[in-house]
Amino acid sequence: MSGIIRLQTEIPGPNSRALLARRTRAVPRGVPAVTPIAVVHADGAVLTDADGNRLIDFAGGIGVVNTGHRHPAVVRAVRDQLDRFAHVCFPVSTYEPYVELAERLNRVTPGSHEKKTFFVNSGAEAVENAVKVARFFTGRQGVVCFEHGFHGRTNLAMALTSKVMPYKKGFGPFAPEVYRIPFPYCFRCAEASQRVSGEASDCCMASRERLEQMFASVVDPDSVAAIIMELELGEGGFVPAPREYVDALAGFARDHGILFIADEIQTGFGRTGKLFASEHYGLVPDIIITAKSLAGGLPLAAVTGRADVLDAPHVGGLGGTYGGNPLACAAALAVLDAMEEERIPARAQRTGDRIRARFSRWAKQYPCIGDVRGLGAMVAMELVTDRQTQAPDNALTGRILAGALARGLVLLSAGTYGNVIRVLAPLTADDALIDEGLDVFGAALEAGAGLTPAMAQP
Ligand SMILES: Cc1ncc(COP(=O)(O)O)c(C=O)c1O
Repeated sequence: MSGIIRLQTEIPGPNSRALLARRTRAVPRGVPAVTPIAVVHADGAVLTDADGNRLIDFAGGIGVVNTGHRHPAVVRAVRDQLDRFAHVCFPVSTYEPYVELAERLNRVTPGSHEKKTFFVNSGAEAVENAVKVARFFTGRQGVVCFEHGFHGRTNLAMALTSKVMPYKKGFGPFAPEVYRIPFPYCFRCAEASQRVSGEASDCCMASRERLEQMFASVVDPDSVAAIIMELELGEGGFVPAPREYVDALAGFARDHGILFIADEIQTGFGRTGKLFASEHYGLVPDIIITAKSLAGGLPLAAVTGRADVLDAPHVGGLGGTYGGNPLACAAALAVLDAMEEERIPARAQRTGDRIRARFSRWAKQYPCIGDVRGLGAMVAMELVTDRQTQAPDNALTGRILAGALARGLVLLSAGTYGNVIRVLAPLTADDALIDEGLDVFGAALEAGAGLTPAMAQP
């Protein structure tokens, strides 16, 4: 295949295999190696591995480089900041990039009310801090979260996460006062009368009833500090919540003095075709947490929210040694500039439409594709052994991912059953690159499904 992908060796090549062997000896197996390639260089949506192979990146460091690897403005901003200072510790000395980034996030996040922001280092840390602040402000302890949700690997974030294996198994005890409700996952809802993702149906109504039941029989809503939600599940399989459900949930939270925390760690910064997924829902969260693509590849996470909520904890109750590192803040300011100047959210919508059109065509040809869904460029397909039983086909998922990698495309799975293939390509990628990646995906799908599209037609 001509174009961007250039394969000089089999994947993984000898140099990747050698580094993987060293990794196996030096690093615990609990830290997964989703692909066996060792990367030496990355630009835009292209990875170069240790054997000189050029691959297309549809993983984007798991949604971290929406602005592409080494966006020139991000590289420049980090270099400039490094020439000044790399660390002084924000609780010790104030520096402008932190303050300016807080101002920018207060401005661009949903809602025109007065907001405040503070920074931490990872998504999980943002989750922990959002809940901590919500508990302090409300004087309540309960937190409501969702089946299929993912919020990270620290103790409270792990408790809020739904998937047992690999995230929770053997790692208890879990943090208390966590209450889990069904996510409105229309494709897998027994009550659904029509299995159409993202549209209100009986499925959605059933989830609302379960919510009301829980507040009647499990936990008093007046003891709940916050509801934390991914508006489109990330690790849980790219499932967007129906608008009607989110409206009802937000209304319920408001009526009971419960804070709404939108976890926009994976949905944020243009991925869904808007800067934040909340905008698709007309939702103004009390607290919005961001990380991943916030700083274009540098570790940074933010907790942004109502000024009265964020200002509640006493002096010294929030912070940390590295939170809001100057290099990361400088990178994030360049990311926000790029989002505006390059109109990245609108571009994401167009790229997402392109991917969705191809996936939908394949879904007509391949019965193994049970569902195609997602907002903007946060698109995925769910693979099943048959459309009637909807049994997850994670073996096929694995074959497609392996087939894509062998052909030079890095792809990721998702979903509680490991049977969803998601696209997290950098949003700066041009149509030619996306098309080349999709051609490779198509070849891997055809080989993995063991059918040619013509044979697969109903
Ligand atoms: C929605 C969501 N929340 C939280 C996290 C945790 O972020 P981190 O891995 O930076 O701790 C992730 C990571 O994938 C995520 O997708």
